[in-house]
Amino acid sequence: MTNKTLLAPYSSAALGSLPNRIVMAPMSRHRATEDGTPLPVVADHYAQRASAGLIVTEGIWPSSRGQSGWRFPGLETAAHIAGWRRVTDAVHAAGGRIYAQLMHGGRHGHPLSRIDGDVPAAPSAVLVDPGRVHVRDGAKADPVTPREMTVEEIHTAVRDFADAARNAIEAGFDGVELHGANSYLIHQFLADNSNLRDDAYGRGSVADRIRFAVEVVRAVADAIGAGRLGLRLSPGNPQFGMAEADPGPVYRALLDEVDPLGLAYLHLTGNDRYPALADLRPHWHGTLIANVGENGDPTTREAGEAVLASGIADLVSYGRAFISNPDLPERFAAGAPLQEIDPAHLYTHGAEGYTDYPSLKELKELKDREGLLVTAGQTSTRT
Ligand SMILES: Cc1cc2nc3c(=O)[nH]c(=O)nc-3n(C[C@H](O)[C@H](O)[C@H](O)COP(=O)(O)O)c2cc1C
Repeated sequence: MTNKTLLAPYSSAALGSLPNRIVMAPMSRHRATEDGTPLPVVADHYAQRASAGLIVTEGIWPSSRGQSGWRFPGLETAAHIAGWRRVTDAVHAAGGRIYAQLMHGGRHGHPLSRIDGDVPAAPSAVLVDPGRVHVRDGAKADPVTPREMTVEEIHTAVRDFADAARNAIEAGFDGVELHGANSYLIHQFLADNSNLRDDAYGRGSVADRIRFAVEVVRAVADAIGAGRLGLRLSPGNPQFGMAEADPGPVYRALLDEVDPLGLAYLHLTGNDRYPALADLRPHWHGTLIANVGENGDPTTREAGEAVLASGIADLVSYGRAFISNPDLPERFAAGAPLQEIDPAHLYTHGAEGYTDYPSLKELKELKDREGLLVTAGQTSTRT
């Protein structure tokens, strides 16, 4: 029988052999140039976290049409690909595995945060409510009402995802995760109050509501192979004003469509309102990564062990704990206390609060050095 604990290895045909079941969850940290190229410090950040079973990057825009925040990274241009190549090389050299999360912002975009300065397009012309948007120069602004996407623009968005996925593979990523969660474009098509369309992508039937998500999954699977593709979903997550009265039928239908494709994994977030993990597990036969932290506090070791022991999940993703503990698996193994996040530097653009959280090994070296200094000081006082 498989030993389902966080520190036990995991393997699947698509993911290969992972040394543990701890996944680093995608987290936007705004460390890109203004044109969307990841800064050199991004390579250090992810390489420091290479002991994760798998790293999923922050959300990356597939084309500038999907840019949702200023200094968020992209995967559209040769400069982006070269920037991400430095990251994947660093992670692989440190022994890790890394997927790129493709995140189209839809209505999260803002003329002041997009390189092209355009008003964003979304399934329907519905304002994000509530929510402030990250814009130029570290500021936040009230959201703007998006334009309703034409069918041609929907097809373009599908192609953008597929093109960016090819770019991700060229940049050396082990695979791609589609961000279908937390109120971004794919979720905007799935949810009740952000998709008021009456065409084949709209609210008329469950088949229409899931059509965009299914088309994106198929297009990306065709582009890079289903075995290099993961899908993230957060059914019923009310973040940024999303409303889904009855997520079950929508997400069960979506999984029934994409499960047979044989994706690398499903990354699923549960919440208090809808028991997504338990309800949807029977509709997913492949690897399931659970995220159990959307209800307030950062995911604990105990919560992760519990969802593995329940048999529902194969892997568990950790977000905030990985920000402040680059060596999270080693800390769990040692039973060491976790370091706290520095909230002031979550969304700044430098190394501070990003690559300066020490590992256990670095802490020990620091203590040893301080011990030596104290010893040297005592010696010199005595002579
Ligand atoms: C700073 C920050 C940025 C985030 N950015 C993303 C993102 O780009 N894509 C995404 O899917 N989730 C994002 N999330 C959500 C996390 O992936 C994760 O689901 C959440 O933090 C809950 O897990 P935790 O309790 O382990 O932190 C972000 C979370 C945080 C704290």
